[in-house]
Amino acid sequence: MWTVVLLCCACAAYWLWSRKTRNTTEPPVLPGAWPIVGHALRFVGDSCHIWNTLNDVMNDIHDLGGVVTGWLGPKNVYVVTDPDDCSTVLNTCLEKDDLYEFVKPFLGEGLLTAKLSIWKNHRKLLNPAFNQSVLDTFMGVFNSQSRKLVRELEKEAGKGPFDHWAYIRLNALETIGLTSLGIDFNDLNLSTQYLEAVETALSTMIERFAKFWWHSPYTFAFSNLKRRQDASIKILHNVSNTILQKRKSELTGNICSERSVIPGTKFKAFLDLVLELSAEKGAFNDREIREQVDTMIAAGHDTSANVLMFTMILLGSYPEAQDKAFAEIQEVLGDGDRDVEKPDLSKLVYLEAVLKESMRMFPIGPVLIRKLDKDVELKNCTLSAGMSCGLFLFAVHKHPMWGPDVHEFKPERWLEPGRLPDNPNAFAAFSLGRRMCIGKNYALMSMKTTIAHVIRNYRITADHTKLKLKVDVLLKPADGYYISIEKRT
Ligand code: HEM
Repeated sequence: MWTVVLLCCACAAYWLWSRKTRNTTEPPVLPGAWPIVGHALRFVGDSCHIWNTLNDVMNDIHDLGGVVTGWLGPKNVYVVTDPDDCSTVLNTCLEKDDLYEFVKPFLGEGLLTAKLSIWKNHRKLLNPAFNQSVLDTFMGVFNSQSRKLVRELEKEAGKGPFDHWAYIRLNALETIGLTSLGIDFNDLNLSTQYLEAVETALSTMIERFAKFWWHSPYTFAFSNLKRRQDASIKILHNVSNTILQKRKSELTGNICSERSVIPGTKFKAFLDLVLELSAEKGAFNDREIREQVDTMIAAGHDTSANVLMFTMILLGSYPEAQDKAFAEIQEVLGDGDRDVEKPDLSKLVYLEAVLKESMRMFPIGPVLIRKLDKDVELKNCTLSAGMSCGLFLFAVHKHPMWGPDVHEFKPERWLEPGRLPDNPNAFAAFSLGRRMCIGKNYALMSMKTTIAHVIRNYRITADHTKLKLKVDVLLKPADGYYISIEKRT
């Protein structure tokens, strides 16, 4: 009994001492901290509660100058909402936080999770795979996949609200499967099995994140959670390894590397580009190739699918914006049913504004976390090396610099430069700095093509005010994703 009391007193004394000896140039502490546990109690709860708490503290952080210190028990974490300070951190510290280790059993040292020493070289090698000339060859796949989505949605037309997420996600997975691996998941009957395995792998990682007693690799090793995670990752790795080995032997047998998986389309899959790099420069071994391909699939399908899902809800909730987007699509593509071609993309300016506004309202990566490997000097304070730093991108998009209508969906703001903040860091949906999303242009091209096909065929209705959000690594609706569609005549 006395031991416990003494231990508590010692912890409290240490806690007070560590707070008193804080560096004066450190950012202010977020109000509402309790002794010993700090702010941790506020975040105890499910992923909806975590999201609501983050929303509650957003304005406090803005008011305190855009950078604060939070105390999660013994761990200090900085949180930044100021756009310029976010950019400084993201440009100065490229190392991901230790929490990204939870994803490594699946993605290893792929770009998203790689430690800095590996990332530097691999990012340089992989950048050319996302050149505009490479992306242009994917237009055939983007069109044919969008047409497939339109056909599949037909069974829901005129039947009232339905969950469009499952359709969009499967379609996005197939698109990334085609362009990354050069295979049609459908032909191989892999889509459902792969999606289920991705779902399980990601949900076990989120569960581990939420339950601090599984954070240590030693406790986690004995958990059922790890067994479930291992089983799903085994399926995912088996799929990519099998495809990798098959493709390697085809290429050794000099089978042409340009694919025509979809009739009338020719493109080089990401896997082939990486295999070529390995043959020419010895750049990657088999494990590294698999990790990069897995990374592209994981980072590329859930993200684009989420943005499309939110965009359809928003277009359904704002009929005027939908009418404007439809009018623009008609003007650029004409009345017929032709494919969206590359030159059309730059003419679909309103549609691009809709997508950007949707990502401003709902940035699917609402918080990124970096490990500070050096002291970082910000506008009004200095962050200390060794700490974790949360970049609260959702709050950056809600910064007062967006104006009094910051909480409203207004695609028009993107078309009048005077209505946008005079700050390039105010929009960070794809992150900022050298470690920003490598797939940004891929995503914009594929999403624009998909939305153009869908809006050309269907009128959407939805009600975004019913959206309840949660944060499961990505920002997601908590209770289903409902829209209604009517076939346009
Ligand atoms: C609308 C769709 C997308 C959004 C909003 C998005 C957003 C992001 C964000 C915020 C990051 C930074 C993550 C972090 O620092 O923790 C990121 C990184 C990344 N994204 Fe995307 N992404 C999208 C689509 C894609 C696509 C289609 C691909 C691949 C085809 C892709 C591949 C990657 C990769 C590989 C990284 C890691 C980059 C690096 O560390 O060098 N993303 N993305």
